[in-house]
Amino acid sequence: MISFVLNNKIIQTQTNPATPLLDFIRYESNLKGTKIGCREGDCGACTVLVGELINEKLTYRSVTSCLFPLANAVGKHIVTIEGINAEDKLNPIQEAMSNQNATQCGFCTVGFVMSLTGYALNKKGHEKEEAIASIDGNICRCTGYKSIEKAAGDIVNHCNGFADGPNIERAIACGAVPAYFQGIEDTLKELTNTKEDIEANGWTIGGGTDLYVQKHDELLDVKNEFISQQLAFDPIKVTDFGIEIDGSCTVTQFVTNPMILKDFPCVRGLGVLVSSTPIRNMATLAGNLVNASPIGDMSIFFLALDTTIELTSAQGIRSIPLSQFYQGYKKLDKTKEEILTKILIPKRTTLGSVNFEKVSKRTWLDIASVNSTIWIELDGNNIKETRISAGGVGPTPAILTQTSTFLKGKNISSQTISEACEMAQNEVSPISDARGTVEYKKLLLSQLIKGHFFELFGIV
Ligand SMILES: Cc1cc2nc3c(=O)[nH]c(=O)nc-3n(C[C@H](O)[C@H](O)[C@H](O)COP(=O)(O)OP(=O)(O)OC[C@H]3O[C@@H](n4cnc5c(N)ncnc54)[C@H](O)[C@@H]3O)c2cc1C
Ligand code: FES
Ligand code: FES
Repeated sequence: MISFVLNNKIIQTQTNPATPLLDFIRYESNLKGTKIGCREGDCGACTVLVGELINEKLTYRSVTSCLFPLANAVGKHIVTIEGINAEDKLNPIQEAMSNQNATQCGFCTVGFVMSLTGYALNKKGHEKEEAIASIDGNICRCTGYKSIEKAAGDIVNHCNGFADGPNIERAIACGAVPAYFQGIEDTLKELTNTKEDIEANGWTIGGGTDLYVQKHDELLDVKNEFISQQLAFDPIKVTDFGIEIDGSCTVTQFVTNPMILKDFPCVRGLGVLVSSTPIRNMATLAGNLVNASPIGDMSIFFLALDTTIELTSAQGIRSIPLSQFYQGYKKLDKTKEEILTKILIPKRTTLGSVNFEKVSKRTWLDIASVNSTIWIELDGNNIKETRISAGGVGPTPAILTQTSTFLKGKNISSQTISEACEMAQNEVSPISDARGTVEYKKLLLSQLIKGHFFELFGIV
């Protein structure tokens, strides 16, 4: 039995837990405000909010319901457009969209309103940029974004007219959400959920952002293991070894963690280049590593950091370097039963500098043509140790071993960087595909390596 709160109603259902939340909302609950667009996480027409208790505190995030398994709704508050409507008028977010002519056919509008409601519920600063960032996963094909951005600005001004305070109280006070939100925290605390012991014969599902795009129908026919039913309260810890991260940590949790941002400031830039807000809110780090895409952004980041991963099964726990995990195209050193439970960054990594670069056809919401990370430790002007990883240049996410070895012990100079770039181009074997030709990808790799040295040391 799956129990959760949908808007202001408690739901208890025996529906197949692998059903996309979008289908449950539209076809079983008959709430047709949430739209179906791409079903691949790209358009944002199906955006809803998920509220959950994290350390006893109700916290909301936006997600694309087309990729969100019903099983992951257990114990949560799911909010659709019907759940934020004011009784007999538009709420201030809907009104701002209407006043600024930010809607034409209206197909995308619900998604934009839900993302902006997510902003109102999570607002940290007072800036328009924050509101605009919240709609980075929403696409409109007819209005043009300027009017939508103006509406976002109006919403920021409206919200700023109310005193700061706890998120939910403030969102209720400014009319972004109805008064019933006040009672949701208590309702969730009272919801009882029994986790059924199932003999899983299907997939391990994290955020579902890869699986629901690739295997949408297959997931419904098997018994799957859902490992991300609840966001971990504290997924990132410092230990004697270094930094220990739960496999279920979402990309959002990782790229907004103050400790990570302090040790690896480039993560701020990396964060906005990985998919979009709702996808980052669901996607797990383990899912990115196990997916084994040769251009997975998080795989490329962690590879350069000499990361170790922990794989857990009934047979016990096994630790292996991430660099040994990838054995061929989508071929892993992992059994079907093993769950990636931990990602461990060694302590000495924090002594060096790190930079991440990515080039894709579109800047936002696109996977890389080529991406790369460098970790580098200097002794004066000398390179003490370095590891460069690169994606999109071979069948697996790769460490550029020859180039990294070549750089070790060298003085940083334009000459050294040029030689390293040439070596890197000869070390890789990309293929020509929709993201570029072999020659283009090799050239990109060289440019990204130059970009690393420019970003970190200002050397060209
Ligand atoms: C619109 C869109 C944009 C995207 N943009 C990017 C991008 O810019 N950069 C990028 O790198 N990726 C991108 N992705 C891909 C995807 O979001 C990431 O790969 C994500 O991190 C996958 O995590 P997940 O938890 O959703 O994986 P899932 O879909 O749940 O699982 C992916 C694979 O990992 C396995 N798995 C999941 N968790 C575990 C675990 N703990 N142990 C063992 N196996 C596990 C699953 O069985 C499956 O094989 C995008 C996806 C979408 C839909
Ligand atoms: S339908 Fe397009 S993101 Fe879900
Ligand atoms: S108003 Fe038509 S898609 Fe946005």
